[in-house]
Amino acid sequence: MRTVTIRAELDKALAQLPRPVALVPTMGALHAGHAALIAAARRTAATVVVSIFVNPRQFANAADVARYPRTLESDQQLAEAAGAHLIFAPSVDEIYPPNEPLTSVEPGPLASRLEGASRPGHFTGVATVVSRLFDLVRPNEAYFGAKDAQQVRVVEWLTAQRTDHIKIHRVATVRDGDGLALSSRNQMLSAAGRAAAARAIPVALSLIAEAYASGVTSVAMLRALAERVLAAEPSLSLDYLDFADGATLVQLSENAQIGDAAPGEVLVSLAAVVDGVRLIDAITLP
Ligand code: PAJ
Repeated sequence: MRTVTIRAELDKALAQLPRPVALVPTMGALHAGHAALIAAARRTAATVVVSIFVNPRQFANAADVARYPRTLESDQQLAEAAGAHLIFAPSVDEIYPPNEPLTSVEPGPLASRLEGASRPGHFTGVATVVSRLFDLVRPNEAYFGAKDAQQVRVVEWLTAQRTDHIKIHRVATVRDGDGLALSSRNQMLSAAGRAAAARAIPVALSLIAEAYASGVTSVAMLRALAERVLAAEPSLSLDYLDFADGATLVQLSENAQIGDAAPGEVLVSLAAVVDGVRLIDAITLP
């Protein structure tokens, strides 16, 4: 496995690697969730490229960019062990050349609610960097995690606007033993904050899944079950707990019954802040 940092090296490396090529875009600080994406990509593609780039344009401020963990050496080991063939770890100037105009890519209608509402500009930054990475790597397929449920839908929308027919795959969320979804941001939690997050977030979502499986379909009742668990942790501040049509991301009304309200899967997503760290998680109800 090689690591390249500039476009010319990327082009040279790609010319020597077989197609189909799968891209796994990441911001580094790789963990077993990223490894699951790489391993899945390895099963469908001849070449797996992992990009590692902390994209300043999807963060609200420079302080958040600065405190994002950077662990290139261990990332290289994890990516190689998971089956990656090439790492593309560009600088900010390589992705956004200072002498080129700063064009933004429109993230589309699925980007307006949820994370889009709480983090203005976030999905414009994601759409812009993902488009840039697609243009540079020219993959046949790309892998994204189901934990960032709205991000995958936005990327699917973005891909449908493009002419290069990149196939988007979705990989199930990898969780720690305590149920908390793996995230590079978990490193920024205190021990107490982490324990509180684990007692609340995955438990609230599991309660919803279990109640739904045993026949409870009222959005209001499912919400009440989850909110009781979330409210029991004073150090956790809930931003949203949302029930939406999994395809359109249109919100279900509180008095809806899940089977009637959406033709396909329902996305239950939540965002909460613990220790000043924003955590998101999601499940789908069939
Ligand atoms: P990052 O947070 O590094 O995540 C990279 C990919 O790993 C995303 O597709 C994310 O959904 C997936 N992922 C993260 N945690 C996971 C887990 N516990 N289980 C399964 N998959 C998981 O998401 C981003 O970076 C950026 O927004 C990016 C798409 C790279 C654009 O900058």
